[in-house]
Amino acid sequence: MKKKLVVLTGAGISAESGIKTFRDSDGLWEGHDVMEVATPEGFQRNPSLVLDFYNQRRRQLHEVQPNLGHRVLAELEEWFDVHIITQNVDNLHEQAGSSKVLHLHGELLKARSIKNTHRIIDWHHDILLGDVDEYGDQMRPHIVWFGEEVPALEEAINITEQADYLAVIGTSLQVYPAAGIIHYSQAMCPLFYIDPKPATIYNLQNPLEVISKSATEGVPLLREKLKKML
Ligand code: APR
Repeated sequence: MKKKLVVLTGAGISAESGIKTFRDSDGLWEGHDVMEVATPEGFQRNPSLVLDFYNQRRRQLHEVQPNLGHRVLAELEEWFDVHIITQNVDNLHEQAGSSKVLHLHGELLKARSIKNTHRIIDWHHDILLGDVDEYGDQMRPHIVWFGEEVPALEEAINITEQADYLAVIGTSLQVYPAAGIIHYSQAMCPLFYIDPKPATIYNLQNPLEVISKSATEGVPLLREKLKKML
């Protein structure tokens, strides 16, 4: 049976595909007030502004491609049972060919009714005010905003508890509960952290190897290291 490799990814893995991270200088949050565009209260106050913010990001997705980091993670399925847990709302892991991708913070190419978190549909174009589902309810981006529950959290924790190897790629580990997921791994489980500016990880017993490189350099290195451990 293949060993289980669990990978937590953040905005950094998509940076070299041309999608901005959030907290780097020139990051997405530099030019935006998070409370206005990424909270339920912001949406209530100014739905058009929020819809437009995500419409622009959704349009950008049609122009970007997965990079070597995404592709190597997909290739690793040949040797490992790879589970990707991503904070990203792009679909670049899927495009690269990864078969098990859990989106913690939702997906840009889906929309849901404002009334029901479970009424989710594929949505590849703009969402406009007046776009309603079959029940007549306004649609909103299928994105987990600040202050909202993370429905995929329990599944992410279950997967992480079973990991033989854990990799964390391109995340500042500042946003919870996502950042806390690594603490559910078994203490013996080796953790690899790829990020050009890695954050300090506190209170972790696992063997930790920090690879201070970008995703396109670091993920191929990770592949070599993991294959040697088989
Ligand atoms: N390769 C790998 N990592 C990179 C690269 C790169 N080429 N470029 C930047 N990084 C790293 C940065 O050093 C940083 O540690 O990616 C990380 C990006 O961190 P954030 O911008 O904070 O993104 P993320 O951790 O994914 O944010 C978590 O916060 O705003 C919310 O919901 C949003 O899912 C997001 C969550």
